Amino acid sequence: MKIFIDSANLSQIRQLTEYYQIDGVTTNPSILAKEKEDYWDVLKQIQTIIGTEKPLFVQTLSKTADEIVQEAENIVQTLAGNIYVKVPAVKEGYKAMKKLNKLGINTLGTAIFTAQQALMSANCGVQYVAPYVNRIDNLSNDGIQVVAEIVKLFNTFQLQTEVLAASFKNINQVHKCSLAGAHSVTVSPDIIEALHVHPCSAVSVEGFSKDWQGRFGVLTT
Ligand code: E4P
Repeated sequence: MKIFIDSANLSQIRQLTEYYQIDGVTTNPSILAKEKEDYWDVLKQIQTIIGTEKPLFVQTLSKTADEIVQEAENIVQTLAGNIYVKVPAVKEGYKAMKKLNKLGINTLGTAIFTAQQALMSANCGVQYVAPYVNRIDNLSNDGIQVVAEIVKLFNTFQLQTEVLAASFKNINQVHKCSLAGAHSVTVSPDIIEALHVHPCSAVSVEGFSKDWQGRFGVLTT
């Protein structure tokens, strides 16, 4: 399962990329609005950190299909490299997805709350769909179930579109998405850290060191 960082914070992206296997970065307007620098600068710096060959996801804000297409063209022209344009799964969004597919611009259908929205986005030619797991849970629905249904539908119809599950509040949601067969997840820096590190591992390592030192003294390399 691929792991994407759902953040535009440069120091956190730098740190996570240094330590862990990171497959790319996803942003959205709210995420970019948290940063102090100009958003184009932030996006270009993210590319410098992760490398232009790794996917960077940038979301459109326009309301009509023609404007979404124009905005998407501007995004891919301004940012060289492996760019995926996130297009919301709303009425004008689907029209834009079809047009962008014809233009050969890579897209992700975002803000997905139902399995059928994911299937319809795939039919319009997106490369990825992003079901919003925690936001679905907050509606008293089951985000993991929606992810599992999308995986099943894509397998049933042998679609190439991948599931990039998004909107997580804890590692259990991420774990269940991986069991459901999501191809990738995008998660905040703190959850990425929690996916990798467990306090009991550090305690175990400390115990091994103590036992070794008690018998052989300090390790000299
Ligand atoms: C993905 O890029 C989504 O925009 C993001 O995961 C949404 O997460 P939130 O529901 O925590 O805002």
